[in-house]
Amino acid sequence: MNALAVSEDEVMQPRLPLEPDLFGQVIMDHYQGHPGEFYLRRDDNYVERDSSARYFQTWEQMPAHQRCLLNHASGRVLDIGAGSGCHTLVLQERGIAVTAIDASPLAIEVCRQRGVQDARVMNAHALHFDSETFDSVLLLGNNLGIAGTPEGLHGLLARLHGLVNPGGQILADVVDYTATCNVTHLRYHRRNLAHGRYPGTIGMRVEYRGKCGPHFDWLLMKLADLRAACAATGWRIGRCVQVNADAATFAIGMMRE
Ligand SMILES: C[S@@+](CC[C@H](N)C(=O)[O-])C[C@H]1O[C@@H](n2cnc3c(N)ncnc32)[C@H](O)[C@@H]1O
Repeated sequence: MNALAVSEDEVMQPRLPLEPDLFGQVIMDHYQGHPGEFYLRRDDNYVERDSSARYFQTWEQMPAHQRCLLNHASGRVLDIGAGSGCHTLVLQERGIAVTAIDASPLAIEVCRQRGVQDARVMNAHALHFDSETFDSVLLLGNNLGIAGTPEGLHGLLARLHGLVNPGGQILADVVDYTATCNVTHLRYHRRNLAHGRYPGTIGMRVEYRGKCGPHFDWLLMKLADLRAACAATGWRIGRCVQVNADAATFAIGMMRE
């Protein structure tokens, strides 16, 4: 019998029924009293476990760097990829006007049910706002990753430049993909390069309760590359604080030039 040859680049993923808004389902289930774990399966079959509770953190439970970034939010705020609305709600309770957007209809429904006053289903790649509407943009939970690719990041930063007022800012927490010694991750970065992809573009999907979400690309940037993307789109990294030495998370404030 001939064995089926599967190269490293053709890793088989489990066949599961596709649920288009599976991450939103995780958020909704948690909100309705059914917290749970879900999995992020990278396209090389590397799997990480995550928990719905992480997306419902209160101010006290939030990591210190996110509290610090939220303390810098001012003026009219746009929370991109707001999830359950936990960051939006903190600012709203302070009397700050916040618009929460998310591509997930279920996540936005949870935002509304939790009391977010302005929650909209909207894709970060197709933002519909008047120019110079916002003063601060939140991309928390490593949400610059939404950009997917360096080209996507360039487009997102350029669009945000038009949406914020002069003196406006982006507040983000960012993971630098180069800060790892994990051989599986290093091999994945090399595989991306071999395919002509940016090494920090992570192709993955959500798996939860026997279903899978659609494939999506999530971008982890080398800091130097992020600086270059900012410079090319009219942004300047004003503050950049390393959050913890091993995970290479940075709390970043980008200022509109
Ligand atoms: C890692 S979660 C972070 C959620 C929240 N900011 C937090 O820290 O708890 C990413 C969120 O971004 C949303 N998202 C992913 N791609 C998006 C896109 N293209 N446009 C808008 N939202 C998106 C997801 O639905 C999800 O709610």
